[in-house]
Amino acid sequence: MHAAPDPLSMSPEEFRRFGHAVVDWLADYRRDVAARPVCTTVPPGAVLARLPATPPEQPEGFAAVLQDLDAVLLPALSHWQHPRFFGYFPSNGDLAAVLGDLLSTGLGVLGLTWQSAPALTELEQRAVDWLRQLSGLSAAWRGVIQDTASTATLLALLCARERSSGHAAAGAGLQGGGPPLVVYTSLEAHSSVTKAALLAGFGRDHVRTIGVDGARALDPTDLRRQLAADCAAGRRPCAIVATTGTTATTAMDPVAACAALAREYGAWLHVDAAMAGTAALLPECRHLWHGVEAADSLVVNPHKWLGASFDCSVFYVRDDQHLVRVMSTNPSYLRTAVDDRVVNYRDWGIALGRRFRALKLWSLLRTHGAERLRARLRRDLANARWLADQVQATPPWRVLAPVPLQTVCLRHEPPGLDGAALDAHTLAWVDRLHRSGAAWVTPAQLDGRWMVRVSIGALATEREHVAELWQALQRAAAASGDLGDRGGGHGDRQ
Ligand SMILES: Cc1ncc(COP(=O)(O)O)c(C=O)c1O
Repeated sequence: MHAAPDPLSMSPEEFRRFGHAVVDWLADYRRDVAARPVCTTVPPGAVLARLPATPPEQPEGFAAVLQDLDAVLLPALSHWQHPRFFGYFPSNGDLAAVLGDLLSTGLGVLGLTWQSAPALTELEQRAVDWLRQLSGLSAAWRGVIQDTASTATLLALLCARERSSGHAAAGAGLQGGGPPLVVYTSLEAHSSVTKAALLAGFGRDHVRTIGVDGARALDPTDLRRQLAADCAAGRRPCAIVATTGTTATTAMDPVAACAALAREYGAWLHVDAAMAGTAALLPECRHLWHGVEAADSLVVNPHKWLGASFDCSVFYVRDDQHLVRVMSTNPSYLRTAVDDRVVNYRDWGIALGRRFRALKLWSLLRTHGAERLRARLRRDLANARWLADQVQATPPWRVLAPVPLQTVCLRHEPPGLDGAALDAHTLAWVDRLHRSGAAWVTPAQLDGRWMVRVSIGALATEREHVAELWQALQRAAAASGDLGDRGGGHGDRQ
């Protein structure tokens, strides 16, 4: 008798056992996360030092992975799903979406072609169309899920480049000697826009930075001036990227004015609504991207505020045939008999292999329904307004930018403190706040000076957590460490 060989992969029964343990672990983690300090304080290299430098030769069992999770990994994580997470923008992973993601990975299917996983493609078609409807967009838009907004913006600029150059990529490409193509975006645009322009081959010399107005929104007068100057110099305006909800302050570029200029100059208009696109679920917020129907493309990240769990970014285009023409490949091994009747999403982006990402968006939308999603977004907007009111009413605190959504930009400005000293004070109290574990916020520069972004909208964040944050901000700023003989902050000036 021969002994049965060791199984060469995890058996379904083992998966069942550890899968239950993992789900229990995650359920406990989400239930209890509020009791943890929001930010980790581990120094660089601490995790690496505790991980074996070489892989095991013999199986160790999944229990070892769970042990690492508790002992080594969790202490080295800040908690993005914490109710006092106010950093960056929310990256909400609703537990329904987490289950959808687990199903996607567990099924392990790939959408190389429609035929390779028909449900993957058709659920994606339906899910992005549901999101379109929820956002009040017309039926003229077609969507596809990408990993990130950075990828979607790159796709938009590649489409723009090909439209302006008469599909130069099919011939001499960038070496063809046509007029230089120019991209326009505001001073406040996300860094992914310039990165996409550079990757798409425009060259830094052909990326124009448009000035902003007092609300930090793109100034259409400056845009027109730069468009005209380029035309006069023999360059060709190719793409305008407008942002609704800029990263620093959630400023709203005037999409309608950008669309009019795009039309006049024959340029592609891409709207980066990575964060603020979610606000369009609320009819009362749709004015913020007024004019969006005249854009050529649009990106919205359901993996931010909406809760579809990273990574899930929806790229919408008006002309899907143009996108397909720019992106398609057609090797023999991917051809099928139904290609003329189906969507092959590999032709809508860069990657060939595509995950079943739609499952998490689908899970989120189905399990919550529009009404509950809208209620949560309204809760967050009200919380941001509440915080802005508190800050505004409490000198020397100041709100530094309009609050159209859920992000409040603020600074504690003790009298007599400015320039580098004010910067040092800001960075010092943020550091104290983070070390206290009470909350996580993001310091960022505005007009060259440090300020603090408080981005509200984690799934678990209620008014009480925002109130706790406000107390913690005041405590951190009042601690006298960085103010020397100027005395404390807020506490001295009541
Ligand atoms: C306005 C805006 N655009 C683009 C991005 C990049 O998003 P992603 O990480 O999906 O590439 C961000 C990230 O916060 C953003 O705020």
